[in-house]
Amino acid sequence: MIKLNTDHLLFEPDFNQYQDEVSRIHRMIIDKTGKGNDFLGWVDWPFAYDKEEFDRIKVAAQRIREQADILLVCGIGGSYLGAKAAIDFIKGNYAQDDLEIIYVGNTFSSTEIVRVLKYIEGKDVALNVISKSGSTTETALAFRIFRQHIEKQYGKGEATNRIYVTTDKERGLLRPLVNKVGYESFIIPDDIGGRFSVITAVGLLPIAAAGIDIDAMMNGLQDAYKAFTVENVNHNDAYKYGVLRRVLQEKGLDVEMFVTYEPHLSFVAEWLKQLDGESEGKEGKGILPHSVTNSTDLHSMGQYVQEGKKILFETILTVHEPLEDMEFPSDNDDTDQMEYLASKSLHWVNQQAMLGTLEAHTVEGQVPNIVLEIKDNSAYTFGYMVFFFFMALAMSAYKLDINPFDQPGVEVYKRNMFKLLGKE
Ligand code: PA5
Repeated sequence: MIKLNTDHLLFEPDFNQYQDEVSRIHRMIIDKTGKGNDFLGWVDWPFAYDKEEFDRIKVAAQRIREQADILLVCGIGGSYLGAKAAIDFIKGNYAQDDLEIIYVGNTFSSTEIVRVLKYIEGKDVALNVISKSGSTTETALAFRIFRQHIEKQYGKGEATNRIYVTTDKERGLLRPLVNKVGYESFIIPDDIGGRFSVITAVGLLPIAAAGIDIDAMMNGLQDAYKAFTVENVNHNDAYKYGVLRRVLQEKGLDVEMFVTYEPHLSFVAEWLKQLDGESEGKEGKGILPHSVTNSTDLHSMGQYVQEGKKILFETILTVHEPLEDMEFPSDNDDTDQMEYLASKSLHWVNQQAMLGTLEAHTVEGQVPNIVLEIKDNSAYTFGYMVFFFFMALAMSAYKLDINPFDQPGVEVYKRNMFKLLGKE
């Protein structure tokens, strides 16, 4: 489902030399003894997830599809990136579907919020607010605005049937509201942080509401658990990739540029930027994750990669079986000089662009490339891929000797903002 190709690294990696350290970190992950171990709940989640809640998610998702034309997913950071990454990855852009999903609660932009309010006016909506703390300001602000909109449109009683809350089991500001109003609610487990929560109700409810088979996604997750909890680094691509990230940084490459040739994978890269950046960027350490969508960005960032400062390596996410394909049409009038591509498939053209760029960046540009070959865009593959990235990140981050599961730095902007906003 996802295969690591190390042919374009510009050096021959010898993973054997890392086995002792990999084994030590492997035990820290599996036995949950590493730093931040109270947030390692995602490790056994593929099998330990709450089956009763899982069934309830499927029922709620079906209800949302019946009651609404638009689902507002209200959350920020880990409370929305995974769902958007999954839905875009699996369904593609411009998907034909009865339910449109709009992501709110992730910005203070007045233009964005008012435009969504105007756009949904008169349309049937449901809302899934997702927040572990319930106090995240972007999300709480949007939730009040859109909750009032729904209450005005349907009355308080019916609004209750259209609002779904995903939050902490006991703590936070949303739980008392759930208890008071009676919204249907789902739990964000204590031991799974936001950037790992796409595999919980946080991701699963919007993903299922989008009409995606979440059983298949969980199957992918389970099979990936079997593949990527193997201690031997030579037989575990996630550990190999985790080790390689550190080896490349030790060579002075502080930036990892995620590269995709599919626009509908750009949010997988956004999700990865949070997963890796928020997990590793502390104590003055960590790789800076960056992303591009090619070939679009070859016409902007391509120049830097090819000839700029040698501070980065690329990690390509390439999909073998695209969601759609077509033959390039022939035309008797070849004024556009495109006839040489007649009858070639567009996916083939895209693949040649990827291969040509790979050679340009590695051979002439001397930029190491990791290639992650992804089989297809199924829900199964998405679940499989997510667990691959979790295990790789845990390996990389523990190799850096930091706590990958906290994010103390994000509080600083909040402190300043609250002071300016006049919050007690
Ligand atoms: O990964 C994280 O922990 C963060 O990105 C959070 O998910 C984000 O800040 C939202 O927090 P909350 O779910 O409490 O609203």
